[in-house]
Amino acid sequence: MATSSAPGKIILFGEHAVVYGRPALAVPVMQVHADVEITDSPRAGIWINAPDIDLHAELNSLPSGHPIASVIKKFFLRPAPSPPTPLPLGEGRRGEGIEINISSTIPVASGLGSGAAVSVALICALSSFLSHPLSDEQVNQFAYEIEKLHHGTPSGIDNTVITYAKPVYFIKRQPIEILKVGEPFTIVIGDTGVHALTKESVSDVRKLWEADKAKWEKVFDEVGEIAKKAREKIESDAWEKLGELMNQNHALLQNMTVSSPELDKLVSAARQAGALGAKMSGGGRGGNMIALVEPEIAEAVSRSLKDAGAKNTIITTVSP
Ligand code: PMV
Repeated sequence: MATSSAPGKIILFGEHAVVYGRPALAVPVMQVHADVEITDSPRAGIWINAPDIDLHAELNSLPSGHPIASVIKKFFLRPAPSPPTPLPLGEGRRGEGIEINISSTIPVASGLGSGAAVSVALICALSSFLSHPLSDEQVNQFAYEIEKLHHGTPSGIDNTVITYAKPVYFIKRQPIEILKVGEPFTIVIGDTGVHALTKESVSDVRKLWEADKAKWEKVFDEVGEIAKKAREKIESDAWEKLGELMNQNHALLQNMTVSSPELDKLVSAARQAGALGAKMSGGGRGGNMIALVEPEIAEAVSRSLKDAGAKNTIITTVSP
């Protein structure tokens, strides 16, 4: 048997602009996770059970391009994929087939990285089950390939923060930088309960950019500057200053048309309840927002978010 688990994630600063090469900051969210368990089975075939998405199927019955099937096929069916080299099904194994059980407490299409967390947990569980060790870099690269099936043109931030499970300062196609978090700080995450596809908001931002590149490059520059300042504040124990930066980043995301009435309502509710700042997080149009809070008012902000319609809240501390 092999098991593996991967956390959720939340983007603190820089979503969307990160697709255009600007820096972004993201942190793991340990309160939610994807879990994978793989066992030998007397039943022939590779059986996948993922009750959260109502998936109970044999591998070969899944369409090509299915993200979960694609991960498994890379291990079992391709001749010599890079990163992993496959171990043929049956080699050195006891049962006729295998059962792969996938569960997740990460809400789907909500900006918490559910797809990337399942990919990372599945890759790690398969690598352990097949005694085929992979470096973090290989897991990350592999999960990025699968992210492309979910998103089309992902920056790679989700798979990176989830693979390393550490706060990251991320720039597309550059080596990963782990954030040196100074004093811990607390954020409240509020879920609008609205499911929205990142692929669509990313594609809409691309249309805006294509229609007026000069204008949007400036906006992305502003977002990038905010992300750089946020890094300085986080690394120099000045986390209270992140609140204003969150407010500025939210306004720029509103300009990009990726916020929504539900997100704006939760952002306002958090600010009114005493948060130091708040913004939407991730692809937008739905999903989650975040608020920076003094730890002692986290519960009160969480209650205000629920009163304003949040379907769920998570209080999380970002620490070194
Ligand atoms: O919706 P999420 O949390 O997966 O966020 C995606 C972040 C974007 O910047 C919008 C897209 C990307 O690939 O970085």
